Amino acid sequence: MFGIVIDILLIAIILFLLYCLSAIWPPDSPWAPWWQTPKDVILAMLTLAKVGKQDVVYDLGCGTGEALITATKEFGAKGIGVEIDPLRFVMAKYNIWKQKAPHLTLKKENFFKVPLSDATVIIMYLIPNALKRLTPKFLQEVKPGTRFISYRYEMPVKLFKGRLHLVKHDIKHEIYIYKMTA
Ligand SMILES: C[S@@+](CC[C@H](N)C(=O)[O-])C[C@H]1O[C@@H](n2cnc3c(N)ncnc32)[C@H](O)[C@@H]1O
Repeated sequence: MFGIVIDILLIAIILFLLYCLSAIWPPDSPWAPWWQTPKDVILAMLTLAKVGKQDVVYDLGCGTGEALITATKEFGAKGIGVEIDPLRFVMAKYNIWKQKAPHLTLKKENFFKVPLSDATVIIMYLIPNALKRLTPKFLQEVKPGTRFISYRYEMPVKLFKGRLHLVKHDIKHEIYIYKMTA
């Protein structure tokens, strides 16, 4: 009995240390810091981008899944979440199950390897370096008309050679909405 208690305690300590470590990981590594989009920002970004039931929403680095859960439950969209971190992936799975979010697929994958051709909305809370590295993939795969929602960080518009346009900027919530053109 005592052994089991020690095991549980050790697991809890390891999980806590991993949680702390994730906050100080180098910002340009795939293990981006444990930053989360607040709920009021999620609501503002989905409203601003006019997300609706016709949309296929991808969340690249979906973390614990809150934005996607809101997009599917409250805005009626279909959601696809991509998350590389096993801990956050499990937490997202649990949140989706707990909140009974419909029309939602979760992939434990590297978002550089996930096809984006059916996306109509792409949500990201990623550092500028990751947005820059994703640009060739966006140019190759994302169809015209797709909206990008970026929280806190601007997308590298110049690298899109006239194919990406800022359509809305909510200064208060630090939300940038872009549209891809042909
Ligand atoms: C700043 S957090 C944002 C989490 C969530 N989107 C939110 O707003 O609450 C960035 C997320 O991207 C994930 N991530 C970073 N690089 C990734 C990659 N190459 N593939 C999939 N997920 C990645 C991280 O694990 C982390 O959960």
